[in-house]
Amino acid sequence: ELLTPEAQAEQLPAGTTQSVSKEVTVLYGSQTGNAQGLAENAGKTLEGRGFQVTVSSMSDFKPNNLKKVQNLLIIVSTHGEGDPPDSALTFHEFLHGRRAPKLEDLHFSVLALGDTSYEFFCQTGKEFDARLEELGATRLYPRVDCDLDYDEPAAEWLEGVVASLSEVQGGNAAPALADAPKAVETSYSRTNPFKAEVLENLNLNGRGSNKETRHLELSLEGSGLTFEPGDSLGIYPENDPGLVNLLLEQMDWNPEEMVAVGKQGEVRPLKEALTSQFEITVLTKPLLQKAAELSASDDLRELLTPGNEENVKSYLEGRDLLDLVRDFAPWTGSAQDFISILRKMPARLYSIASSLSANPEEVHLTIGAVRYETHGRERNGVCSILCAERLNPGDMLPVYIQHNQNFKLPNNPETPIIMVGPGTGVAPFRSFMQEREENGAEGKSWLFFGDQHFVTDFLYQTEWQKWLKDGVLTKMDVAFSRDTEEKVYVQHRMLENSKELFQWLQEGAVLYICGDEKSMAHDVHNTLIDIIEKEGGMSRDSAEEYLADMQQQKRYQRDVY
Ligand code: 2AM
Repeated sequence: ELLTPEAQAEQLPAGTTQSVSKEVTVLYGSQTGNAQGLAENAGKTLEGRGFQVTVSSMSDFKPNNLKKVQNLLIIVSTHGEGDPPDSALTFHEFLHGRRAPKLEDLHFSVLALGDTSYEFFCQTGKEFDARLEELGATRLYPRVDCDLDYDEPAAEWLEGVVASLSEVQGGNAAPALADAPKAVETSYSRTNPFKAEVLENLNLNGRGSNKETRHLELSLEGSGLTFEPGDSLGIYPENDPGLVNLLLEQMDWNPEEMVAVGKQGEVRPLKEALTSQFEITVLTKPLLQKAAELSASDDLRELLTPGNEENVKSYLEGRDLLDLVRDFAPWTGSAQDFISILRKMPARLYSIASSLSANPEEVHLTIGAVRYETHGRERNGVCSILCAERLNPGDMLPVYIQHNQNFKLPNNPETPIIMVGPGTGVAPFRSFMQEREENGAEGKSWLFFGDQHFVTDFLYQTEWQKWLKDGVLTKMDVAFSRDTEEKVYVQHRMLENSKELFQWLQEGAVLYICGDEKSMAHDVHNTLIDIIEKEGGMSRDSAEEYLADMQQQKRYQRDVY
């Protein structure tokens, strides 16, 4: 259960020791960059308060140095089925292993990032928190678990940590330097998105394809926004007007009724609020619990009684707010009551498909349209279908740049790169190639691309072929899964080329995987281990270690979703 930071503060362990140094180490484990951004901010704040701060990614931190740390702040996200981000894997494993040291002199606090729509909410943060305690460390401040809207709880956590750090210094609070003058908020960010004009919006798939993949070009002119290949773009989409109308009808709400939408008391017409401010396409357990109080029927409360967890889970699966209001009518709550329990519209992140040096003041995206049917109704991906069906050149889209330190071209332009990106996973590699072409980089490059059909689904085919011809791209292997009797996937092409692929790895190549996490990235990972085992003449364990070492050296990078 989630405690407010205030309630959590009351659970502070008694008797924290007196002699704590002013050094603080902030370790982050970040997948998309949120934890990293928070860690860097925390570092600045702490420095401003007179602490000596080291901020580091968990992947760059030598676990043996843990014994020397006195104050440790951990900021870590959770993804997938409760997994640590890639960059946290080694440290997480070390800390949970037998060789983890006793940490009786350590003071710590954990800020966990997560998403309440996932079952294993903030799991990785919870694990670090519990494990550090188990190893004898003392909690400076209770863990705070954040949902997507993390800015406020994170700020409260940091305040609590600073207060506690100052307190355990025996009353000699670090000089509360007048807060560094805040930079005037002129820059665009996640909380202050830039409205980017749509320049181009094309379907990359040919007629007859099972797929629709949009190529979007947006203008960043005048924004001052910059990015590097590997970074992502956040988009704040609008909900499907058809779905919003069905909701309004079902609830017999007046679309023009003014409702309060923000903490600052901003008001908006209900229809607009439902369209652009709130998430209406995903149900979570916390939402069901709050909705139960607005339902006149007992069915929802019944569903939520203890012991019913599996039923709740299966109810949540694939259903949206329209299902909820239909299934548990009649309702007693007002439109405002409903608005107040909804989650703010989260941004959607897409890997950027262009390079700023090749396309100044532009950003390109490759977005797969998501359409499916479930529970007797057609469903649409919010952002992808907005792009596919309702977004035209000249329209404006609120966006921000999400930097991603975990997916970067090597600094050395001569380092060979291997890119594995089936489907829309190819996006960042287009950015890589544009950048390397622009810079005249000499390093070898190898693309593995796959999709269903050669004729309709070879995304950016002419661009790849041109790069191949010009030598910007050294080698390309493609796998079209539905052109032949038997399915061929990118990993089959990798296996066919295992000798040469291993040779590239031995030469120091960086290997990138982008795309579907659950099946593709997992299978490609295992294939890589197979290849290293076979071509390196290694045991399974050594092959796994080889890949883990590559990951440690940032020579194995993944951008998966
Ligand atoms: P399929 O849909 O025909 O099974 C991009 O979506 C490509 O990735 C498609 O060709 C798709 O094949 C393929 N794909 C699906 N599952 C995969 C997996 N586990 N590993 C690699 N590629 C996969």
